[in-house]
Amino acid sequence: MAVTIKTPEEIQKMRVAGHLAAEVLEVVAPHVQAGVTTEELDRVCHDHIVRVQGAVPAPLNYHGFPKSICTSVNQQVCHGIPGDRVLRGGDIVNIDVTVIKDGYYGDTSQMFLIGEVSVQARRVSQVSRECLLLGLAEVRAGASLRTIGRVIQRHAEANGCSVVREYCGHGIGREFHEDPQVLHYDDPKTSLVLQPGMTFTIEPMLNAGKRQVKVLPDGWTVVTKDHSLSAQWEHTVLVTPEGCEVLTLRSDESL
Ligand code: MF3
Ligand code: CO
Ligand code: CO
Repeated sequence: MAVTIKTPEEIQKMRVAGHLAAEVLEVVAPHVQAGVTTEELDRVCHDHIVRVQGAVPAPLNYHGFPKSICTSVNQQVCHGIPGDRVLRGGDIVNIDVTVIKDGYYGDTSQMFLIGEVSVQARRVSQVSRECLLLGLAEVRAGASLRTIGRVIQRHAEANGCSVVREYCGHGIGREFHEDPQVLHYDDPKTSLVLQPGMTFTIEPMLNAGKRQVKVLPDGWTVVTKDHSLSAQWEHTVLVTPEGCEVLTLRSDESL
């Protein structure tokens, strides 16, 4: 599938979807505390998306995914399934929210630190957020897509973290996952030049240890092979002539 350029009408719908996805993270945030189960967080998000936003939680039934959000704890890299696991002080958890509104997708995730966490947990979460911000800073019309992966890999590795290669950012719009693939490491084969009206995600997954991952028998949950901690932050962006518009910016967030 070719990379699509969104029309002004489509961009307006992407703004709405992106804003709603960001709002879900703001709504769930006060619930992300020691003692809560990831299933309870799923219910808070699901109910807000369906009842308040009149939107659709994109993960639910996506290739058979059983819940409305992804919750990935500690050594889980991504696609964790909400369940009866209780969050405890010292845990780190990524909550990944994707909503569909008026036919368009908004996709965003962030890390939450529960109580006092280890220096390494704080570090991998912080460095992965910095990698997202460095990637965002490279987005503008005329820039190469390759640069995004290069700056992310450089920052991750300079800080003792590794970049997961099996999963990547993606074009997004009327589909959950469109072209292009947005790699979070340098790849000489990436030659796409960014144009105004392109929309895609940047969502670096960083491991505190080695980059290798495996999928658990549940068929979804991705974990680090060496059991090291993993962290991820994600935004959906629009390429503009001057730079990028972050479609999933939270109201309290500065870049
Ligand atoms: N939100 C994830 C992404 O950033 C995809 C989740 S797919 C699911 O692309 F099925 F696991 F929910
Ligand atoms: Co995504
Ligand atoms: Co996501």
